[in-house]
Amino acid sequence: MASDTMRAPTGATFNAANIEPSAPILLFDSGVGGLTVLEEVRKALPDAPIIYAADTAGLPYGTKTEAQIAARVAGLLGRLTERLRPRLVCIACNTASTIALGMVRDVLEVPIVGTVPAIKPAAAMTRTGVIGLLGTEATVRQAYVDRLAHEFASDKRLLRYGAPGLVEAAEAKLRGEPVDPAAIRHAAEALRGQPGGERMDTVVLACTHFPLVQAELAEALGSDVRFVHGAPGIARQVARLTAGQEYARQRPDMALFTGAGDVSDAHRTKLAQYGLLEVERF
Ligand code: DGL
Repeated sequence: MASDTMRAPTGATFNAANIEPSAPILLFDSGVGGLTVLEEVRKALPDAPIIYAADTAGLPYGTKTEAQIAARVAGLLGRLTERLRPRLVCIACNTASTIALGMVRDVLEVPIVGTVPAIKPAAAMTRTGVIGLLGTEATVRQAYVDRLAHEFASDKRLLRYGAPGLVEAAEAKLRGEPVDPAAIRHAAEALRGQPGGERMDTVVLACTHFPLVQAELAEALGSDVRFVHGAPGIARQVARLTAGQEYARQRPDMALFTGAGDVSDAHRTKLAQYGLLEVERF
C-alpha cells in the first residue's frame, strides 16, 4: 500500500549473514503510535523478537523544531542500536522519518525502514480528487510532503492539517482513558473547512498515532470517507528486508521508555496485548 514510502537501506557494512537469531527488530516512535506499525509487523513476522522503544521524554515530537527532533532521533537511535544490536530498525513515526531518516541512514550500519505519508495510495483511492492529510504540525510542513504531493498527487487537491490534539487523544486511549471529543471534532472541522473540504473522500493518517483513533475520526467525518496509512506497507518492507533470516526469541518482547514516571496497570495491559510483556526505562 505504501511502497512509495520506503527506500532501500544504505547500511553499507551491515552483514546480513552474521545476524544472531535472537537479534531483535527495533521499532522506534515518540510514544504509542508505533504500536500500529508493530501490529502489522507481528502479522507478517510472528516469530521475530521485537523491542519497541518510545521517546516518551520527548513526546510530542510534532510541536518541536526540526533540529530538536533530528538531535533526539539520531542520538537515541545511536545509543539503542549500540546497546540492542538490532537486525533492522523501523522508525515507526512519520515526524521522525520525514525529518531525520536520511541523516540516520547515513550514520547507522543497520537497515532502516522509515514511515512517510501514504499520499501515493490515497491518490489512487480518491474518486473526488480531494484528499485530507492529517499529521503532526512538524510533518505537514516538511518539504518531503511537498515532494510526495508533487510526485503522486499533483492533479489532486491535498488538504493538510497538523493535529497535535490527536496525538494526545491516541496516547489517552492507549492508557485506557477517554478520548477528548473536541480533539476529534477540531481535526474533522479543520479538514472539512478548507476549500474543497466538503468533497474530501480519502484521508491519509500521516502520523502513526492516528490509526488508534480512526474509529472516532470516521464517526466525525462520515461514512463516505476512507482512511489510508502506511503500516501494512511498512510491515511488507520489513519482511522483504529480513527474508530468509532465522528467529529465536530468547526473552519476552519489551517496551523501552525514555520518560520518567510510572506506567499504569491499564497501560501495561494494553502493551501486553501488543506482545510487549516487559517495560523498562532507557
Ligand atoms: N507518532 C508520530 C508520528 O507518526 C509523532 C507523534 C508526536 O510525537 O507528535 O508522526
